[in-house]
Formats: sequence, structure tokens, C-alpha cells
Amino acid sequence: MAKETQEVSIAGIGLDAKSSIPMYRQLYEALRQAILQGRFRSGQRLPATRTLASELDVSRNTVLLAFEYLLSEGYLKGKTGSGTYVTDTLPEKLLFAARSTTDTMPSRPKRQNLSKRGEVLSTIHFPVGESKPLRHGTPSLRDFPFHIWGKLLARQMRRLPYTSFGYGDAAGYLPLREAIATYLRTARDVRCEVEQIIIVNGSQQALDLTARVLLDPGDKAWIEDPGYLGARKAFIGASVTVTPVPIDEEGLNVEKGREIESKARLAYVTPSHQFPLGVTMSLTRRLQLLEWADESDAWILEDDYDSEYRYTGRPLSSLQGLDANGCVIYMGTFSKVLFPALRLGYLIVPPDLLDAFISAKAVTDRNSALLEQAVLADFIEQGHFGRHLRRMRLLYQERQQILLNATTRHLKGLIEIYPSAKGMHEIAWLPNDFDDQKVSHEAAEAGLAVTALSTYCLKHSSHPGLVLGYAAFTEDEIRQAVTRLAGTLIS
Ligand SMILES: Cc1ncc(COP(=O)(O)O)c(C=O)c1O
Repeated sequence: MAKETQEVSIAGIGLDAKSSIPMYRQLYEALRQAILQGRFRSGQRLPATRTLASELDVSRNTVLLAFEYLLSEGYLKGKTGSGTYVTDTLPEKLLFAARSTTDTMPSRPKRQNLSKRGEVLSTIHFPVGESKPLRHGTPSLRDFPFHIWGKLLARQMRRLPYTSFGYGDAAGYLPLREAIATYLRTARDVRCEVEQIIIVNGSQQALDLTARVLLDPGDKAWIEDPGYLGARKAFIGASVTVTPVPIDEEGLNVEKGREIESKARLAYVTPSHQFPLGVTMSLTRRLQLLEWADESDAWILEDDYDSEYRYTGRPLSSLQGLDANGCVIYMGTFSKVLFPALRLGYLIVPPDLLDAFISAKAVTDRNSALLEQAVLADFIEQGHFGRHLRRMRLLYQERQQILLNATTRHLKGLIEIYPSAKGMHEIAWLPNDFDDQKVSHEAAEAGLAVTALSTYCLKHSSHPGLVLGYAAFTEDEIRQAVTRLAGTLIS
């Protein structure tokens, strides 16, 4: 073999178990830097994953995951198991070659030239997950009435005067804000005037704006543990110190939060349907949280991301509806009820904060896109929104049952899964001695996207489990996926 098989030296690779950056990500970055800086040369062999895991004192899954990213991005080549080598042609080299021949673009800024904020942001990874069976978080896109959306879009193009295509109101398109206010007052028991609604580009922008308007770098924010990664990333991106507070059967444990960090400036919560565990925050806890926020002059950010999907009983009241002191900022999204690519959501902000939030929105992107806002306003006002929601509620309830039946049939005794009256995903609890990351990795090899529950845990470890999405998949897809999952778990 002409290939140089000398093994790279991993001396100097240090990982920080206390860092909020996941271990696989730290390892990925360390190996990537070693390749880019020439410390690992083309053709050199990487140590076996087991060896590397034991030398670095991390799980083999951590190493496998880091290798998987480096392989898929072209830094490494080969197959895990039969040897992994540094690639012959670095992707960065290709990039530079392509650029230098075309124009006089300034060279790429050196990493050390980034701002402190930029340095932090560069460590945050936001992968776009492939739509594989059982991936959670996406609604059934094939059931969305795009033909109606298309007609409304064409109608708005004809109807809107050319004068409306200039810069718009940073708070959003007024008819859409009115439609949202009417919907939320009845469906979600939210207290708001139209003026308090700010249209944003999805929850992610709501999180980013809230972090930047209300928190200074170094401030502390409570986040749920386990909890939503998008929120954790937004706070880390704003250089806020996240304080993980455990979740129990009543939701966020406020007493524990006070013990861990009573001086936090904000608490981020998903009280209607905790992500990912699915618990609803009890009234006692809601009142305790409001009391803590009032006493400590802190804010509560309520993320009501999917409470439209409630299959029995009345919709739940929001935490915001209980707030007598104006300390709750409420956020919602159309990603789960319509489709994520729409990138529309809303914030409901206490009156005293309005000017600051609207200015922050304007500074960020002036305003959200007009046409989508106008079409959405029509979609709600003409009753399509309500109809689509009712159809999806029935469909998702049915799909949850299909998932439960299939898991009872193929995975009985191996996983525990309980019917839920809400949401778009289920937790499949694994036996105590299972490594959920390992199961998730093996399931990925079988073409499934089941996320390990531990992915969402920061400090407080959870019983091992898998997050199984069912909303976006047909009966056949769910059944086949469960059979494949059973094959993975049983082998
Ligand atoms: C807890 C939570 N909030 C919000 C969202 C939606 O985010 P966005 O509106 O940015 O698409 C998700 C999507 O997975 C979520 O799980």
C-alpha cells in the first residue's frame, strides 16, 4: 500500500467535561483543528475508536459521533472499524482554490480575529436533520394544503398595492397580529392587546431577541434539564450562563432552581408540554415560578411551541395568563402547526418592554417578510388554519396510536412507552443499563432518526430513553421503522 499508515499523535488533545459544549463536539473541533493546522497529515491513520475513547476517557459513542461528522465533511476517509485516515484533499484547500481564481475577495478572517461573541457563536452547531423515519419535531408536510397556500399567495400578489412592498413595521403586519391576538385569547387564554404582539422569524429569533434585550453577557438563565437545545444555543450565543434546573413530574423544580442559582435573571420554560419529557407544569409550580420571578426581579420566557396538539380536553391555559406582574414573555411558532420553512412566530411582550423589543427586531432584520405574513393572515381569517389544525389533531392522534401498537407488538419488555394526550413525539424508555446514545447511533445505521434523551440533558442525568416522532410519518413508515428499531435493540 502506498498509503502512509503512521498513526497520528493525540498528545495535546484535551477535553473539558465541565464545558457546556458537548464532548463529541469538542473532540470534533480538536481533531479538525489538528488536521487544518497540519499536525495530522494526509494519509495518517487515526487511532481505533475504542483506543481513542479509552485514552481520552470518553464513551466510544462520543468518538464515533465526532468521526461521523469529520467523515461526512470530508476531513477523514475510510470506514469506522477498518481504519480511518486523514483525507488527501482538505475541504478548506478546495474552498481557497476556488476563491483565489475567481476574484479579489479578501482572505477569510483568521479565527483569532473574531469578536468574543463571534468566537462563542463559532462553537455552536445547528445541524439540519435529514428527514429519516421517527425524527421528531416536524409536522406532516405532505398533509399541508399547499394548493390553498399557493392561491392565497397569488391573491395577495394581485391585491397588495405596490406601496406596501417598501420597508414594513418591525412589529409585524397588522392584520396578522390581529388574527393572532384573536386566536390566542380564545385558544390559549393569553392576555394581550394587539400592540403587544411582535412577529418574529420563528421561535429561534424570539429566543435570540429575548436573550439580547434582557440579558447581559455573564448573566444567568435557568433552562430546563433536559430541555430544548435551540434555547440553550440561543443563550450560549448571547454569552449568557445557562443554569440547568431539573424537571420532575410537575415540571421545572422551582425549589431546586432557587437552591442552584437564586439570582438568575430569566427562566426559560415550556410549561404546557415540557420538551422533551412532555410533562405539563402543575399550577403549584406555575405559581412558585411567578413568585420567584416577582421576588427576584427576573423574567420568565414561556415557550408554547406545540400546545395546539392536545387530543383530549380543553386547551391548557398559558402561564402568561396567570401573570399579574408583567414578568412573562410569551412565544409561539407556526413551525409545528404549519411548516418550519415558513419561519414565522410571535412574541407577546409586556408593554414596558415593547419599544426595546421592536427596536431589537428592527436592528436585526428590519421586519419579517411581508408576503408570508399577509398569506398567513388570510389563512387564519378564512378558517383554513382551524381546519388544518383539526385534521392534523386527528391524524397525529391516530399516528400516535399506530406507534404505540407497533411498539407493543415488537418491543414489549424492551421499552416502556405511555399514551400521551398531547404533542407530536413519544418517549420510549429503555432499560436502566442501556446507553441511549449508543442505541440512537445504531438506529441511525439502520436509517432511523431516534434521538437519545441524554442529548437534551446537561447536568441532571435522565433514565435512558429515545425520542420518537410520529407526526410526520405514515402508518407503513411507522410500522417499518419500529420493526427496524426492534432489530437494532434485539441484535
Ligand atoms: C421547545 C421548542 N420550541 C420551539 C421550537 C420551534 O422552533 P422554530 O419556531 O424556531 O422553528 C421547537 C422545535 O423543535 C421546540 O422543540
